[in-house]
Amino acid sequence: MTIERTLSIIKPNAVEDGHIGDIMACFEREGLKIAAIRLTQLSKEKAEGFYIEHKERPFFGSLVNFMTSSPVVLMVLEGKDAVNRNRKIMGATNPAEAEEGSLRKLYARSLEANAVHGSDSLQSAEREISYFFEKGDIYS
Ligand code: RTP
Ligand code: MG
Repeated sequence: MTIERTLSIIKPNAVEDGHIGDIMACFEREGLKIAAIRLTQLSKEKAEGFYIEHKERPFFGSLVNFMTSSPVVLMVLEGKDAVNRNRKIMGATNPAEAEEGSLRKLYARSLEANAVHGSDSLQSAEREISYFFEKGDIYS
């Protein structure tokens, strides 16, 4: 299994609800190292560009409004099979279907306000990491 990097976002609802520490602790406990981190509030343009693959979806406007509503935590996670392992730790997109103990089961408020984002492939991870971080800000 190769060492990978993936992008994680702690979404506005989980930051507002005071779960930054819980979520970071979960990644560290699972052996995913936090290789870069930043607290920031996304602009409309930045959020639209990030979720560009969903531009034509009916929920796009609402998703962008939610993602810009308050600060988020951007992180690069690094470890073995990081992309897929992060997705497993997060749980299903819809918290009603998320596994017991997954981050979305624990910390989501709704399908939209589902606590965390994670890259869905190595290719997405590369795009998403470089969308938010300079190479020099990532520490192995
Ligand atoms: P993410 O990109 O945030 O990690 O989530 P995901 O891969 O599990 O799900 P995706 O299909 O990429 O959807 C992106 C985010 O859009 C919101 N969403 N709302 N109202 C709706 O029907 C709906 N569907 C998706 C969620 O915040 C979802 O995580
Ligand atoms: Mg996605």
